[in-house]
Amino acid sequence: MLRAGLSMKLCHDYQKQPPVMFFKVMTKRQKELKENRVILFIVLFCSFASDHCRENMSTQKTVKLVTTHVLYEMKLKGEKISMLTAYDYSMAKILDEAGVDVILVGDSASNVMAGFETTLPITLENMIYHAASVVRGVKRALVVVDLPFGTYQGNSREALASAIRIMKETGASAVKLEGGREITESIERILSAGIPVMGHLGLTPQSIHKFGTYVVRAREPEEARKLKDDARIIEKSGCFAIVLEKIPASLAGEVAESVKVPVIGIGAGPMVDGQVLVLHDMLGINTEFSPRFLRRYHNLHEEIMGAVQRYIADVRSLDFPNEKEQY
Ligand code: KIV
Repeated sequence: MLRAGLSMKLCHDYQKQPPVMFFKVMTKRQKELKENRVILFIVLFCSFASDHCRENMSTQKTVKLVTTHVLYEMKLKGEKISMLTAYDYSMAKILDEAGVDVILVGDSASNVMAGFETTLPITLENMIYHAASVVRGVKRALVVVDLPFGTYQGNSREALASAIRIMKETGASAVKLEGGREITESIERILSAGIPVMGHLGLTPQSIHKFGTYVVRAREPEEARKLKDDARIIEKSGCFAIVLEKIPASLAGEVAESVKVPVIGIGAGPMVDGQVLVLHDMLGINTEFSPRFLRRYHNLHEEIMGAVQRYIADVRSLDFPNEKEQY
């Protein structure tokens, strides 16, 4: 249409102008035509570019990053928070794609990845290795990393140094510390560097040698009162969320009501703001650990065992590789 309009105008100009002027008119019109083409090109390019940007923006919008603030809003809206542990890139990628809100690089890696009896032997270097692998697989979830035993208790400067290493060397978003009033100085010092801290009360596996067993905690009124106080104290120190492990459901509900920050339970009943499980337990990779609170969503131990046994049989019988599986 634009072209047709222009050529009609050119004919009209030719009829009006004397021949000497024609060359000049043509040149002017050609210039106009060229300018129009340039304008048309710019308009088309801009519209393509803005569509492209909008598309990108909408893709970014659909991947809304989970931040500590998002978790706080979820609690306000009554939306439950899902959290699972992960220790490597491939699993973390699946968890993130599935839509889990928080991925915890737990020091339970000491048990399920390294085969230790307790969480005590795992080192800061080990945790950094696991956390950096997890972060590489995650686009949306909030990644929280456990500070391992011996890297924060009793020395808030060391706590800050450990947390800084985690943040610098892994790209994670927060750290988790076990304990109540006795670690407030560490919590506050870490927070002073702008590092979000998640608390952990109830059964705290790093103190296993103090308690001697993994039984349910805070059944007695005295311990329950201390736990409620500790929750308020670490909230006041600035923790953005609190994990409650293996305590009576009613007590966990009371704590969740008494603090503004999200409370995430493991073996702490349904009246909290979210749930966390150890991935290897809930997928049934690990079959030796069967506490009452654990729901198994799969029996990966059996699945993997079956697949590996079929592979062994195929290798032995020369069924693998077949003609299609070779070059
Ligand atoms: O290390 C871990 O996996 C944990 C969860 C049990 C909360 O701290």
